[in-house]
Amino acid sequence: MARRAVAVLGATGLVGQRFISLLSRHPWFEIRVLAGSERVSKARYGETVNWIVEGSMPEEVRGLNIIYARPEELPLLLESENVDIVFSALPSNIALEYEFELAKRGFLVVSNASPLRLEPDIPLLNPEVNADHLDLIEAQKGFRGFEGAIVKVPNCTTAILTLSLKPLADSFSLELVVASSMQAISGAGLTGLPAMIIHDNLIPYIEGEEEKVEKESRKIMGEILGGNIKPAGFKITASTHRVPVLEGHTIAVFAKLKEEAPPQEAVKVIEEFRGNKIKNLNLPTAPEKPIIVRRENDRPQPRLDRMEGNGMSIVVGRLREDKALGGLKYIVLGHNTIRGAAGTGILIAELALARGLV
Ligand SMILES: NC(=O)c1ccc[n+]([C@@H]2O[C@H](COP(=O)([O-])OP(=O)(O)OC[C@H]3O[C@@H](n4cnc5c(N)ncnc54)[C@H](OP(=O)(O)O)[C@@H]3O)[C@@H](O)[C@H]2O)c1
Repeated sequence: MARRAVAVLGATGLVGQRFISLLSRHPWFEIRVLAGSERVSKARYGETVNWIVEGSMPEEVRGLNIIYARPEELPLLLESENVDIVFSALPSNIALEYEFELAKRGFLVVSNASPLRLEPDIPLLNPEVNADHLDLIEAQKGFRGFEGAIVKVPNCTTAILTLSLKPLADSFSLELVVASSMQAISGAGLTGLPAMIIHDNLIPYIEGEEEKVEKESRKIMGEILGGNIKPAGFKITASTHRVPVLEGHTIAVFAKLKEEAPPQEAVKVIEEFRGNKIKNLNLPTAPEKPIIVRRENDRPQPRLDRMEGNGMSIVVGRLREDKALGGLKYIVLGHNTIRGAAGTGILIAELALARGLV
């Protein structure tokens, strides 16, 4: 199969670099266009970008010129390069205008930016959890007059949390979830958090994050009813915090369950979870085991465990009974710029391609 030409918007940023790193060895996709801000317009990627992802900058992007285009100009530019799939890692304050223009003009836009994530016709996809929500694309096209479509990647903490909750929800039915996060610095972007602020410190507030985790989780775990998503019925409350870790969000999760859930049985269903909704599609970015369970009391740890499944597997540990709540408590860790951003974005595009939607 010939590789499909793709573009990365916001290619100079942290998530943009992660997209490039993962796409550079991708069997289905070929990076054709890298778009950046006006600041870096026409500069060569290799000469301009301060590469901070582990390993060297991929050879194939070093010589590419970064393009800058206004929203209304971008579709033509991408068409001339035969691109039809666009990965957006744009800042949320400018993403909407670009993404609308592109979807109108026939592109599949897979976006990490938060605007539209809660719109009823926009799939908010964590493929192992809710691949079926991709069906919303047809309604979206009619409703918005799009030739293409927009699919959103969940908030990073939400992606990790909902993947861990899915097998528990399926087997024991969720009633209430309490989530307390310890989120990596990289979640704030390349220039988001100066070292002077986060070093030897902890910030007990991340703007807008708790609301995202609470609302997005119920949407992702909801079901399609009459062309819309009916959010899942469980209650959820989150407290989110920034900690001096480079990559990898850790979450302490407390889950009240409707059915009895002995910890050993819960470990079994989590370990056996394969994400049935995409299991047989052989998508290149899908990890063999989406959830790894560790039995040591001192795991998971960000530095040791974040690259499980090439950063696409999450790691659950310390799973035990929660007597006070009537359910289970555990720790879950996931790579925020891979599972929580670029990796899941690429998995979504693979799923769309496998289903013949692009
Ligand atoms: N970091 C994470 O873990 C994470 C996880 C999930 C979702 N997200 C979301 O993903 C998006 C990107 O996040 P990030 O962490 O990569 O942020 P970032 O490091 O600040 O990168 C954003 C990049 O977009 C570029 N940009 C600005 N205007 C542009 C334009 N008109 N066209 C093309 N590129 C433009 C910026 O370039 P300049 O430097 O020249 O301004 C910057 O390099 C955000 O919406 C964020 O909320 C991030």
